[in-house]
Amino acid sequence: MSKFYITTPIYYVNARPHIGHAYTTIACDTIARRHRMLGDDTFFLTGTDEHGQKIERAAEAAAKTPQQYADEISSEFRQLWKRMGISNDDFIRTTEERHKKRVQELFRRIRDNGYIYQGTYTGQYCVYDELYVDGAQPGDPCPTCGRITETVHEENYFFKLSAFQDKLLEAYANPDFIRPETRRNEVISFVRSGLRDQSISRSVFSWGIPVPDDPKQVIYVWFDALANYITAIGYGSSHPGAQEAFKKYWPADVQMIGKEIVRFHCVYWPAFLMAANLPLPKAIVAHGWLLFEESKMSKSRGNIVRTETILDVLGADALRYFLLREVVFGQDGSFSFDALVQRYNSDLANGIGNLASRTLTMINRYFRGEVPYPSHAASRRPADDTIAKLAQKTIREFANFFDQFQFSRALETAWALVAAVDKYIVENEPWSLGEKQDEDSRSRLATVLYTSAEALRIVTALAHPVIPDATAKIWMQLGLGDIQKVALKELAWGQLHLGTRLGEVQPVFPRADKSAVERMQQMEDQQRTSVADEVKDTPSPAASTQASTKAQPIAPSVTNVTPDGKITIDDFAKIDLRVGVVKVAERVPKSDKLLRMEVDIGSEVRQVVAGIAEAYAPETLIGRKVVIVANLAPRKLRGLESNGMIVAASLEGSGRPVLAGFLEDVPPGARLK
Ligand code: MSP
Repeated sequence: MSKFYITTPIYYVNARPHIGHAYTTIACDTIARRHRMLGDDTFFLTGTDEHGQKIERAAEAAAKTPQQYADEISSEFRQLWKRMGISNDDFIRTTEERHKKRVQELFRRIRDNGYIYQGTYTGQYCVYDELYVDGAQPGDPCPTCGRITETVHEENYFFKLSAFQDKLLEAYANPDFIRPETRRNEVISFVRSGLRDQSISRSVFSWGIPVPDDPKQVIYVWFDALANYITAIGYGSSHPGAQEAFKKYWPADVQMIGKEIVRFHCVYWPAFLMAANLPLPKAIVAHGWLLFEESKMSKSRGNIVRTETILDVLGADALRYFLLREVVFGQDGSFSFDALVQRYNSDLANGIGNLASRTLTMINRYFRGEVPYPSHAASRRPADDTIAKLAQKTIREFANFFDQFQFSRALETAWALVAAVDKYIVENEPWSLGEKQDEDSRSRLATVLYTSAEALRIVTALAHPVIPDATAKIWMQLGLGDIQKVALKELAWGQLHLGTRLGEVQPVFPRADKSAVERMQQMEDQQRTSVADEVKDTPSPAASTQASTKAQPIAPSVTNVTPDGKITIDDFAKIDLRVGVVKVAERVPKSDKLLRMEVDIGSEVRQVVAGIAEAYAPETLIGRKVVIVANLAPRKLRGLESNGMIVAASLEGSGRPVLAGFLEDVPPGARLK
């Protein structure tokens, strides 16, 4: 029996889980399930990444301790995976003792091997990506997320990454190590361009694992996080059972990641492993992003889709099938509720669901619920053999595509068999044969229904890792018991036994009507903002991100308006007006009026959506200083969260907005009072 070890990245606990996270987890779960069916001793790991400055700040903003905050969000991930039936064998949290001790052990080992030294780091850092941005100047944006980097000057520990340039390039010579090819090429050219030593500790905050023998420093969160892949299976433990597990499962067979974290996994991670004399993972596989409304789903953009919404309305299998069938693995793919429901209906309800119900219902009706077998050779037709051959070919092709992570093509192949059997049923009209009592017709009917049921059995077994719930039900309905016991390696045509007694036949994928899309959309809208979504677009003429251009009382419940309509200075002080610098400006798709901007307000970069597209071309705004109402409740415009309002004068008559600005130089974040 061979072993198979697969990992997801561990998810940051600064944001609640969304379908982007579910995508990676589902892909890994599917692979793990297939390997279990192939008889491999499979270990599937996922977990949460809980240390670092980003989490510390997020907790602070939520007025919680980092531990409380991490506990809450980590448990959301865990519960969601449970609800979805994710088959992970362990769930590691980087705040667990077992992890902390073992990370320190790894650090020690690399230090003892001479690859860690003390030095001073001065440069730019992106807290959002927990990334040192080499070569950036103060005020420069992070190349990954576009947020403004922060200047860091620290005494800390460095890892001799530069010592591994040649060895890494040697490792990349294996074409299976980094996939897909495009990512491999990017990594090779990055490493060829030269590697600088990497700071691997921080000293200005404390939410992390202390550096062994120097508790004033905490280990850099990416070192801590990457190590989870070995700490979870026992690396650094003195416990014999854990050591055994590590020996058995490491190196990992597949480490699945999103494309934005390729550098950490394909450069730093293998270098850390080499420095500790540990073997490298066999494959690091990067997938693309799930886009919603044309941009990467993320909390800060306010365009996330929660998994729970889809589970409530269509179930986990629908999401799993959609993501793996619709998105070409490795590339970015768009998510929409329309496309989800369309796929669900065409491939699941009308596809495998319909094939199962019509085939099994006819076996019930014409053969009292027992799988028939053709009684003599004369009842065979070339079409029967065509289906049998196609099924055999499907088993092979499905495996080939699947093993190359081409899930979409694997499913396409399996569903081509579903379509062929559907056509076969229509052409052979078993319902007409069922009306006749002569022996030839009975025999022909038996052949047609046997062929259909056997093809259904094969598709069901192949699709089980992708749609586990529905296929388990179909398997029971076929009278075959527990689908988990299937030995996929032996799957072949002709194994369905004559006389197998069917289970109770019930629809597995009821058709979804149009209201499913609306229901899911509504559920998401309600979640995204507690503020009623009164407008879909900002009406001209305002630069306001708010519902109306008319002056609106801000936080009316806390202002004391005097009888002559005046407010006190204290009331005015409640409005947090700040100087901001526009870093990113772009049109909001399908809107003439809205621009989406990222505005640096000193302490952070805010996404603001404003109705100024008719007055300002986006490129003219980059670098411009503006005034922001920084403490306005967020609201959603065209699905984008707007976190603040840009102040503008509204011209009499045309209503054209004119942005407020400054004649002298002012730093971002300066308060207006
Ligand atoms: N904590 C780090 C990873 C450390 S691994 C040692 C991290 N966490 S994350 O929560 O921001 O993202 C983790 C993974 O979630 C991504 O690599 C990706 O696999 C998945 N995704 C998050 N958003 C996604 C999309 N919008 N689309 C597809 N996958 C996405 O990075």
